[in-house]
Amino acid sequence: MHKITIAIDGYSSTGKSTVAKQLADYLGYVYVDSGAMYRAVTLYAIQNDIISKNNFNIEKLKEILPSINLRFEKKSDWKKAHVFLNGKDVENEIRNLEVSEFVSPIATIHEVRVKLVAQQQQMGLEKGVVMDGRDIGTVVFPKAELKIFMNASANERAQRRYQELLDRGEVVEFKNVLKNIEERDHIDTTREDSPLIKAADAIEIDNSEMNLEDQFHVVLQLAKDRIAGRI
Ligand code: CDP
Repeated sequence: MHKITIAIDGYSSTGKSTVAKQLADYLGYVYVDSGAMYRAVTLYAIQNDIISKNNFNIEKLKEILPSINLRFEKKSDWKKAHVFLNGKDVENEIRNLEVSEFVSPIATIHEVRVKLVAQQQQMGLEKGVVMDGRDIGTVVFPKAELKIFMNASANERAQRRYQELLDRGEVVEFKNVLKNIEERDHIDTTREDSPLIKAADAIEIDNSEMNLEDQFHVVLQLAKDRIAGRI
């Protein structure tokens, strides 16, 4: 069966990565979490005093970019591929609220995007890929055969992310999670380079009222139809 490219974009905590992963597993495709790459660069920037509450040294970030090496690796007993930053597995660390606070400013930097987009396009060369992010259907794979754009209310999304962080044992307040989601939505949609927008040919799904199973079936049907050339 011929393979296609599936691009899933949307707002933070809309369940993009969950559905992208389910779809990739079902179809035997590769799943790429592009947000994990921006998060890993952010972790590196935090560790190297490039970004903090009162400081963002953009020139230093551009200088050290070539020394950042990112790759994904999947072991058979892991649910998904982990992102490795300069040889170290940082999959867990990149999900904390500190990284979430600084990732959107980091993702506005053109040079960061150029580097990561090139690597993402390389990973999709052979098709059979499901990638989720903010600019996948618009910039990374503008010719993707299937583009999905996911949305849900900010409150619903913050509830989901709050629960996720609690499950991971993090001590967080709901209001800070909601604030982070709203701030990131604002930066991601208003930045100059590759803002989060729905591609003209993307199919929008609002999953505020959908459970994971319903959502998967909707997206899977779209993918099957696209692969079979029905739509
Ligand atoms: O998990 P969540 O949906 O909250 O975010 P993520 O997919 O891990 O992405 C984290 C941040 O990286 C986003 O808020 C964007 O600022 C940035 N990002 C981006 O600019 N472009 C992408 N393709 C993916 C993520």
